[in-house]
Amino acid sequence: MHMPDTNQSTNLERVPTDIPGFDELCDGGLLRKRTYLVSGTAGAGKTIFGIQFLYNGITKHGESGIYLSTEEAPVNVRENVKPFGWDLKGLEDEGKLAIIDARSVRFGRSSANKSVDIEPLEIRSIMEKILTKQEDIDAKRVLVGGAASIGISLEDPSKIRIGFMKLSRTLEILGLTSLIICETIDDSTTSRFGVESFVTDGTILMSNQRMDNVRVRSIEIIQMKGSTHSQTTHPYEITPKGIVVHPYEDVYSSKRR
Ligand SMILES: Nc1ncnc2c1ncn2[C@@H]1O[C@H](COP(=O)(O)OP(=O)(O)O)[C@@H](O)[C@H]1O
Ligand SMILES: [Mg+2]
Repeated sequence: MHMPDTNQSTNLERVPTDIPGFDELCDGGLLRKRTYLVSGTAGAGKTIFGIQFLYNGITKHGESGIYLSTEEAPVNVRENVKPFGWDLKGLEDEGKLAIIDARSVRFGRSSANKSVDIEPLEIRSIMEKILTKQEDIDAKRVLVGGAASIGISLEDPSKIRIGFMKLSRTLEILGLTSLIICETIDDSTTSRFGVESFVTDGTILMSNQRMDNVRVRSIEIIQMKGSTHSQTTHPYEITPKGIVVHPYEDVYSSKRR
C-alpha cells in the first residue's frame, strides 16, 4: 500500500471530487485552478467520472460547472447519467450547470479549410464558448471532452502541444479547475497524442482490462504536480450511485481474493 503522506502540500487549495475513494488517493482532491487529463479507452468511465466531479461540485460545494461535450449530444449526456440519479436538466434550469454542444466545432470545419491557422481558431472557439458560459454561471469547474476531437484537427505534435497548453493555461486564468477527457486507443498509453500530459498538471488513468477472463476496472494517478498521490492502481466500480474507488485495495490484491 502506498498511500500519500497527508502532511505534505497542505498549503495548496484542494478541490474535492467527492467521488467515493478518489480523494484519498491524492491528499484530499485536485488542486484548484489546475488542469487534469482523464485518460482511458472507450467505456472506461471517463465521462461518468467527469460528470460526477461537476455534479458533486454543484450539489455539495455550490460550485457551478460547465461540460463542453465534443462527441455526445447534450440530450444523450443527460439520459446517460439519469440512472445514477443525477438530474442534469434540473441543474441547468437552476443556472448551475451548462452543457455546451461543441460538436459543431468539429463538424463546422470543411476539408478545404485545412490551413495552418485554423487550429488556434478552434482552440479559441472552445475557449470563447467556455468563457461566455462562465460569465453566465460563474463556473468553478469544467469538463472538456475529449482531447481527440481537439487534437485531430491539429496536425503535428508541436501544434497539439501548443494547442493544449493554450487551453489549459486559459482555463487556469479563468479560475477553473478542469478535467480534459483523453480517449486512448488501447491500455498501453496514457494519452492520444503523447504530448498532452506535458501541458497539464496531472493525469488520471482509467482502465477496463481483461485479467484472467474477467474485466477489471482500475484507476491510477500517473502524475499530479504539487501533490503527493497514490503510486498504485486501485479498483473501481460503476455503481448505481456512480463511480466508487477502493483506495485501500490495489488491483493485484483484490484479484487474489
Ligand atoms: N447505469 C450504469 N450502471 C453501471 N455501469 C454503467 C452505467 N451506465 C454506464 N455504465 C458503464 O459505464 C461505461 C461508460 O462510461 P463512460 O463514462 O461513458 O465511458 P468513457 O467516457 O470512458 O467512454 C459503459 O461501458 C458501462 O460499462
Ligand atoms: Mg466518454
